[in-house]
Amino acid sequence: MRIILVGFGTVGQSLARIIQKDRERIVDEYGFEPQITTIVDSQGYCQDENGLDLTVALKVKEKLGTVAKYPGKGKQRPLASRIISNSEGEVVVESTPSNFKDGEPGLSNIKQALTTGKHVVTVNKGPLALAMPALLELADHKKLQLRFSGTVGGGTPFLSFASKCLPGEKILGAHGILNGTTNYILTRMENSSLSFRAALREAQMKGYAETDPANDVQGFDTAAKIVIIANCIIKRRLSLHDVEITGISKVTPQSIRIAKASGAKIKLVGRISKSKATVKPEEISTTDPVCVPDTLNALTFSTEHAGNVTLVGQGAGGEQTGSAILRDLVDIRGRYTI
Ligand code: HSE
Repeated sequence: MRIILVGFGTVGQSLARIIQKDRERIVDEYGFEPQITTIVDSQGYCQDENGLDLTVALKVKEKLGTVAKYPGKGKQRPLASRIISNSEGEVVVESTPSNFKDGEPGLSNIKQALTTGKHVVTVNKGPLALAMPALLELADHKKLQLRFSGTVGGGTPFLSFASKCLPGEKILGAHGILNGTTNYILTRMENSSLSFRAALREAQMKGYAETDPANDVQGFDTAAKIVIIANCIIKRRLSLHDVEITGISKVTPQSIRIAKASGAKIKLVGRISKSKATVKPEEISTTDPVCVPDTLNALTFSTEHAGNVTLVGQGAGGEQTGSAILRDLVDIRGRYTI
């Protein structure tokens, strides 16, 4: 399987490390070898149709800041969509930063990949938050896979859990914590009396926050995930504009203390039902299974017959999200002989 990797930040580099480390196991267990043949970053790209040396790509990126400096195989000034259409490869992995204003450059990259006959695995939430129904239709029309496990829950398979483990059930709604950065900030503000700014800085240093952390703090990241769950699981064709969004910037140490006194914690909660989609800080009882600390995410699906079912796991981090990409690649390989 030849992979065109577009975006080489925390997640893209983690995927490269996972493939480098697990290559033999993947060949043994799943019968195919994932080969990254093109890597595009914001300054350039590098390419080898026989598979790039990922040790070299990672080192060049770390030391020189761009894969354009990959010896003999790098070039500057990329136009990602042109590279996508001109490159040989079966799958495009889109891991450029999420942009919730116009979805770019991810939106054009995904369209270009699908229109030139390539499957897509995206961890970029922007294009899905703004245009998920149209992108799913395009993929379907082209008989290609558009996979996005890593967009919700990082390494925790919330979407597959609902679609594969609850077949036949009617899922009436879902609510929970879907953003690791804000959960980390609120936890640190409560447990270590850290200021909002200091806690945010920690989350950025640990690689949880978005490239623009305002997207975490203002609730857009959670809202994008609610949109993805709505389209994929609840079968509602929503976009970001349909979600009522309030971020955590007005949560104060005092409001956290008041919640604590009544056996609750303030959490940024995303909710989707048949009629409404919201993201806002809510007081959640400590006995509620979605009341999880640190970067954990937790999502309760409300079902007609099985009642409430909750899944908890790590919701952010490069390695975790890289693992979700690998899951999608293995799944695509299982459906197609590439
Ligand atoms: N910034 C996101 C979070 C990353 O903190 O949850 C995972 O989508």
